[in-house]
Amino acid sequence: MDRMQVTEAFAGVALPGHMHTAESLRFASGFQFRDTDVLIATYPKSGTTWMQEILTLILSKGDPESATTIPNWARAPWLEQTYFRDVLPETGGPRLITTHLPCQVLAPALRQAKAKVIYVARNPKDVVVSFYHFHKMAKFLPDPGSFEDFLLHFLDGTVQYGSWFQHIKGWLGQQLDLDLFYITYEELHKDLSRSVERIADWLGFPLQPEEIRAIEQHCSFSSMRENAMVNYTLIPCEIMDHSQGRFMRKGMVGDWKDHFSPLQNMLFQKIYKEEMQDSSLRFHWAMD
Ligand code: A3P
Repeated sequence: MDRMQVTEAFAGVALPGHMHTAESLRFASGFQFRDTDVLIATYPKSGTTWMQEILTLILSKGDPESATTIPNWARAPWLEQTYFRDVLPETGGPRLITTHLPCQVLAPALRQAKAKVIYVARNPKDVVVSFYHFHKMAKFLPDPGSFEDFLLHFLDGTVQYGSWFQHIKGWLGQQLDLDLFYITYEELHKDLSRSVERIADWLGFPLQPEEIRAIEQHCSFSSMRENAMVNYTLIPCEIMDHSQGRFMRKGMVGDWKDHFSPLQNMLFQKIYKEEMQDSSLRFHWAMD
């Protein structure tokens, strides 16, 4: 497969060369957003696919047609990936666009266009576990080695997509300057229908109770796990080795407790505290 072993360096972050090229990244950094665009910004494994599905369903008022016939990467394509221009929907209405890029690359263009940004964050302890398992199946990512090795790389920000700490502080540091809605994976988990309602109101797409119920049903973990348009089973095994696990893996809050040793947890707590001490951000997850 193309560029499977290649790593692209961009804005201080390493990205898989399979989906990113110098050209696609240059295009992303010069992209002109429209006022009506809705950008989903996430660090990987934080609930990106879930939000792509939720927003698709909010815009369709709960009609599952496009969510069950068009793959998520075509409905809400990643701005920085090579195929973006080929699939970006040419619609007069809101375009859903996804990114994992750091904020400093896109903030100037977003401010100029007044596009909406929704940032989804997740407890980094669950992110690192999910990311580790994803590395085992994603052939375009490096072999993660042991969980311990991977955890150390995650904490020092040398994994692909860069430092979780920089990503979240960068994006959420722009809350006053961008039209940015911040929500966590944990909030979606705790109360999906209330989360859907809040997001829809912010988008200016208020929903009827039966539409919210339909979205809640369609966006449940069990329903999305069976939907080939979001569970990545359409991706060939040379790119994602499905014998190594499922993309829709567990969908849990607090799965890290089954993976971290007490020592790993202590190290994580220490680095989390150091990295986040300069931040006044409030989170909706339990670190212990
Ligand atoms: P796990 O590996 O912990 O199961 P992303 O889309 O950002 O790559 O994130 C993937 C993670 O979100 C995976 O976490 C996946 O199972 C979880 N996820 C996706 N859809 C979900 C849903 N409807 N409910 C709960 N978790 C979901």
